[in-house]
Amino acid sequence: MKVMVVGGGGREHAIIKKIKESPLVDEIYALPGNGGIAKDAVCVPVKATDIDGITRFASENKIDFAVVAPDDPLVLGAVDALEGLGIKCFGPKANAAVIEGSKVFSKNLMQKYGIPTAEYRVFTELEEALEYLKDAPVPTVIKADGLALGKGVIIAETREAAFEAVRSMMEDKIFGESGSRVVIEEFLTGPEVSVLSFTDGKTVVPMVSSMDHKRALDGDKGLNTGGMGTVAPNPYYTEKIASECMEKIFLPTINAMNAEGRPFSGCLYFGLMLTEDGPKVIEYNCRFGDPETQVVLPLLESDLFDIFLHVAEGTLAEAEVKFSDGSACCVVMASDGYPKKYETGYEITMPADKNIYVAGARLEDGKLLTSGGRVLGVTETAPTLEQAVGAAYETVKTVSFENAYYRKDIGKKALDAVRG
Ligand code: AMP
Ligand code: GLY
Repeated sequence: MKVMVVGGGGREHAIIKKIKESPLVDEIYALPGNGGIAKDAVCVPVKATDIDGITRFASENKIDFAVVAPDDPLVLGAVDALEGLGIKCFGPKANAAVIEGSKVFSKNLMQKYGIPTAEYRVFTELEEALEYLKDAPVPTVIKADGLALGKGVIIAETREAAFEAVRSMMEDKIFGESGSRVVIEEFLTGPEVSVLSFTDGKTVVPMVSSMDHKRALDGDKGLNTGGMGTVAPNPYYTEKIASECMEKIFLPTINAMNAEGRPFSGCLYFGLMLTEDGPKVIEYNCRFGDPETQVVLPLLESDLFDIFLHVAEGTLAEAEVKFSDGSACCVVMASDGYPKKYETGYEITMPADKNIYVAGARLEDGKLLTSGGRVLGVTETAPTLEQAVGAAYETVKTVSFENAYYRKDIGKKALDAVRG
């Protein structure tokens, strides 16, 4: 089959490397892909948000199957447009992608269907939000309604910071129109777990759990980033918690979306916090997480493309979805200075035979040069988490580019939890 993957980051590279193993896949195109992905797929210079460009390419090139990986094209209706042309897709339609595209939608959904999440209020007027914050408990969490490149969440430690946060979103529009409506919610505490799941709207099959490391610096200090590393499985996510999540969160969410006339098909990501009152939903994503995908897919033993086909056809219950009992660790190597200012254009050298997922690099005269903040993710799998972490850091030593920066403590929190 001729397959097209929309997107161009580490997540897409991990998806592409995995589906390349499938005997069902003959050709892979990446729109736009990147310099590293170019080793594994034909990269086509069409932006992931260019829905017309995507559909044109797909019909002109007789694409059989499309995987739409990032949030923006999903929210913009890429799947609706491609399916309109008769092309099978992995990914939700726009009316289901709204579960990530609007925080107000997802919070109201959870409230209506009794799915555990933080208490919240929605505001469309700045004055009302400021009035509410006068005696709201702090810390408090302020979220822009719409997509904001994963940056639309501000945790305000003090009342002053909370006022400042709503002003910046609603008045100064630091996240653009995303901030016209804000959600102000209760601050929850507890270990965070990411659970990606396959679903065709009837069956939901959770993948191996994982743990992201969002902060830029060791010890979870510094600014929030797109993710500096991941481990899987997440040791806090016990079998007991998994079955509680299935009963109280995963199935109810799938059923709620059906009841709303918005059946969800694709990868539904549950961002969970394990609070003293049980697991609660922090966020939903309508897609694979990044860099969670870089640890989850290397542990998948089944044919990923076969699962995609089953999801698209509504027969997920018949698919084989098997994960290894081992562990994985992904260390993200970034350009020093990320997520603020950083320099690019440095040559990357790396081994060819490793699970290295390229996110920010371009090809120039046959050389791979850095072109983004997060440059690549180095993943190793092993029977134990400790071995996987050790191996990932060994492989990191064999990758080099000027100005490389990475956290030295990916997996530490998870290992501490395992050791008790
Ligand atoms: P997001 O950008 O939606 O992934 O959120 C970023 C991070 O903010 C999450 O990973 C959590 O660590 C934190 N966060 C979001 N909502 C809450 C909440 N209600 N209580 C505490 N932390 C939160
Ligand atoms: N790693 C979090 C996300 O993909 O949104």
